[in-house]
Amino acid sequence: MMFSSIQRITLRQLSTGSQIQEVVIIGGGLMGAGIAQVSAQTNHKVTLVDLSEKVLTSSEKRIRTSVSRVAKKLFKDDNKASEAFIEDTMGRLSLVSDGGEALASADLVVEAITENLPLKQRLFREWDEVCPEKTILASNTSTLRISDIMKNVKRQDRVGGLHFFNPVPVMKLLEVIRTDSTSDQTFNAMSAWGRAIGKHTVACKDTIGFIVNRLLGPYIQEALAMVERGDATFQDVDAAMKLGAGYPMGPFELLDYTGLDLHKFINENPDHPFRQESKLINSMVEQGKLGVKSGEGFYKYK
Ligand code: NAI
Repeated sequence: MMFSSIQRITLRQLSTGSQIQEVVIIGGGLMGAGIAQVSAQTNHKVTLVDLSEKVLTSSEKRIRTSVSRVAKKLFKDDNKASEAFIEDTMGRLSLVSDGGEALASADLVVEAITENLPLKQRLFREWDEVCPEKTILASNTSTLRISDIMKNVKRQDRVGGLHFFNPVPVMKLLEVIRTDSTSDQTFNAMSAWGRAIGKHTVACKDTIGFIVNRLLGPYIQEALAMVERGDATFQDVDAAMKLGAGYPMGPFELLDYTGLDLHKFINENPDHPFRQESKLINSMVEQGKLGVKSGEGFYKYK
């Protein structure tokens, strides 16, 4: 494939410069699919693992659509180059329901499964047994402590957090989390990989909520409390924060985007510094209104 000089520069920016080449992403939902896409796009060999074949099928479709969008931006009217970029990216990506083989040679494992501490603890203990010595084990958790998740892992110097933001292909930030036992080498390798996939990395200690959610949490809780008290409608709260505070999204649009089930989970975590039960969220989750991913939350998505 022939590239113009501008395209070459862009691709060089997009190409891997880190020691991490083979990545296994476990959990192929909202976040996992995005992480797999940005990694495959930047020349990494990627395996995306999910228990559900249905999730894998829909994630593959979603990734292809999103990669096509990136290709269009990069190559504009050059259809041949655009097609080649899409096929190369998809060619570096395998979607499987059993990650055993890929784990045996992975440089990095990024876990993006359902936010469930005992499940994450059990799986990391299993991966610790099957992964080679070089493998770094990382979680994309948004609400749990990395050290709690990694409690049963022996390689304590090769664990950490890689906290992405939704939608992953669009959001520039990656929080790189080190526990008390994460080695400098591991931290540097995770940060270099983050930069190689095109993200701006920030470092944070293993504190609940890391940087962004630690600050967003109280904001969202108070927005919910206002609506529950009847101070204002959710539509007006969203409009007020967008037009008065210059936020790109209101708190209820953000809740729909990140998933109401995730917010309910935060409220149920006894360790969480800003947990606050919301009857409104509980009843919406009970009705299956999880936000964008289920087609309806505070707003409808079709
Ligand atoms: P999701 O519900 O869209 O995807 C989770 C996936 O994990 C599901 O497809 C499920 O089938 C799969 N899964 C469950 N157990 C599995 C197993 N044993 N092996 C393989 N796959 C398994 O959830 P989402 O939103 O992608 O969240 C995943 C993680 O990312 C959570 O830890 C969450 O806290 C974190 N996160 C979520 C963000 C968001 O905006 N939704 C932002 C940043 C982090």
